[in-house]
Amino acid sequence: MTKTCSAPGKIYVFGEHAVVYGKRAIASAINLRTTATVTESNQTEIKSPLGTTGIDYMVHPYISRCIEHLSIPAVSIRIDSEIPVGSGLGSSAAAVIATLGALNAEFDLGMTRTAIAEAGHQIEREVQGAASPTDTFVSTMGGTVVITPGQSPPASAKLRLIDCDIVVGDTREFSSTKELVGNVRILHERYPDIMNPIFDIIDSLSEIGVPLIERGDYRSVGELMNIDHGLLDAIGVGSAKLSALVYAARDAGAYGAKITGAGGGGCIVALADDAEAVASEINDAGGNAIITKASREGVRVRT
Ligand code: PMV
Repeated sequence: MTKTCSAPGKIYVFGEHAVVYGKRAIASAINLRTTATVTESNQTEIKSPLGTTGIDYMVHPYISRCIEHLSIPAVSIRIDSEIPVGSGLGSSAAAVIATLGALNAEFDLGMTRTAIAEAGHQIEREVQGAASPTDTFVSTMGGTVVITPGQSPPASAKLRLIDCDIVVGDTREFSSTKELVGNVRILHERYPDIMNPIFDIIDSLSEIGVPLIERGDYRSVGELMNIDHGLLDAIGVGSAKLSALVYAARDAGAYGAKITGAGGGGCIVALADDAEAVASEINDAGGNAIITKASREGVRVRT
């Protein structure tokens, strides 16, 4: 038997990095998806754009961990993705959730969505050392979501789906989430009295952002995203390229623009009314623009 399952990537409206310190974050699933196709086989095989391997923690750490986590018989898994890898769009979480969803369907494991999200979060933590539940939760459940990570399981609530255009600008520079989270941790250890208030302000951006998103007031959401970008720059996860794309998007009339995800390289996100103008300005500034929309749909088994 063959089972195919897909799961979305995500953008952060507010709260990356602060969420690692228990602060609230708002994120949204987007219309870029990763697909996992699972087929019965007498030998375990993982195929992706990174190559073809068996269980291999160097090339395919996330998928290898999914297979071992579920203790299932040998399978062949193929991963196809529309999400740029290591760019802050949750490519690893989407691959993990799509794989768990496909294995759940193939082997009738009876996992609920909540169980898939929790297993996905555990797998991300095991592979990366630290990970907030945001990526795996949003990829499983879909929608625009506010996450409060300080509880177990993390509290979360679906918000009105963002319905303006979303433009992602990819710097095409790989960034390591683990390394950036580590750099922020060092700053936090050295200057807790500076870093804690910054994380508290980011928490307030998420709090104030909830009713604005519910009302569809993207102009105000954009203003707060611009503030968040400045704070992300302040905690050392910005770069000249990221800011060039952020300013290009704002100059083209975006409601707001900021880093999305770990930073360092990777992507920015802009909310926009005229997505074409914003995308063209991002491309002119040397980025790769992707016009997308928020997605209501989380993990989905193709029947
Ligand atoms: O770059 P991404 O998509 O892996 O997002 C990282 C977001 C952080 O808040 C920096 C880390 C996390 O686990 O939430």
